[in-house]
Amino acid sequence: MITATEQSCDGQRAEDGSVFPLLITCDSGETTLAETEAWIAENRNELDAKATEHGAILFRRFPLATDVDFDTFIAAFGFPNFTYEDSLSNAVRTNRTERVFTANEAPADVNICLHHEMAQTPIYPSKLFFFCEQAAEQGGATPLCRSDVLFDRMTKEMPQFAIDCAKKGLLYSHVMPAVDDAASGMGRSWQSTWKATTVQEAETRMNALGYSWEWQDDGCLKVTTPRLQAVKQLDDGRTSFFNQLIAAFHGWKDARNDPGKSITFGDGSSLDPATMDRVIEMAEEIIFNVPWQDGDVALVDNYVTMHGRRTFQGTRKVLASLVAS
Ligand code: FE2
Repeated sequence: MITATEQSCDGQRAEDGSVFPLLITCDSGETTLAETEAWIAENRNELDAKATEHGAILFRRFPLATDVDFDTFIAAFGFPNFTYEDSLSNAVRTNRTERVFTANEAPADVNICLHHEMAQTPIYPSKLFFFCEQAAEQGGATPLCRSDVLFDRMTKEMPQFAIDCAKKGLLYSHVMPAVDDAASGMGRSWQSTWKATTVQEAETRMNALGYSWEWQDDGCLKVTTPRLQAVKQLDDGRTSFFNQLIAAFHGWKDARNDPGKSITFGDGSSLDPATMDRVIEMAEEIIFNVPWQDGDVALVDNYVTMHGRRTFQGTRKVLASLVAS
């Protein structure tokens, strides 16, 4: 029989009477993975609802050590899997199991800015799981930020910008390389992204999804999304700043990409850099940095909560898995 309890931790935030994130620890000593699976299966509806209410759940001291243990833990929830192969993610990733893959393999000194997973594409997951296989020697926290709380603050402090985001939506542009570039946080090749071997196949897929594009002389591909929402209405009445604005504005930088050219409002008008700086500052004010310990799992509601990655030193192995909508 498993004993799991809700605990408090340093840095945990209180948002509208609800803690962020919710921390659940396993307190029953010699617990087995089979007992953990049974506990999840019994409580999954409640855990699912709590992930949405709180924005994220951090599970600590459960008996997980490997990628296969993590796969078993996720499977117990019974959520539909969202495969990397089917996604339009920009990142280069490697699968460990059918469900589990390495989180962004960008180098240790690259800071990955806050974002909602794949909100810069028309196809995105509803939730994410992270698993800490090996914590970094230094740094490497996963910052989490409640986007509903951020949007509330934006509405009060910069109402016109909040209205513009909700009304106009966003267009994202970026340049995909001809072959995977693991040195970049957005180095996935156009062939892999579009599951295409020929230019024609890629164009058929882009057409179907409403993208526009431009082929470059060096074989790279510049794409622009259709108009995507910047703000999402959640089922429970909350409103979330659901986009990749922060990441695209300050983070989409590599040999091919200039962050200054990666994002506009849906009508093509530009975003004010000073306003964006303030949005980023406001997001930083309400962040919780997940202080990874080996074996930790985080379940993040992708509609409610943004995530990123701090720089680190040493080896950091954080695995991820996505849940389809
Ligand atoms: Fe991500």
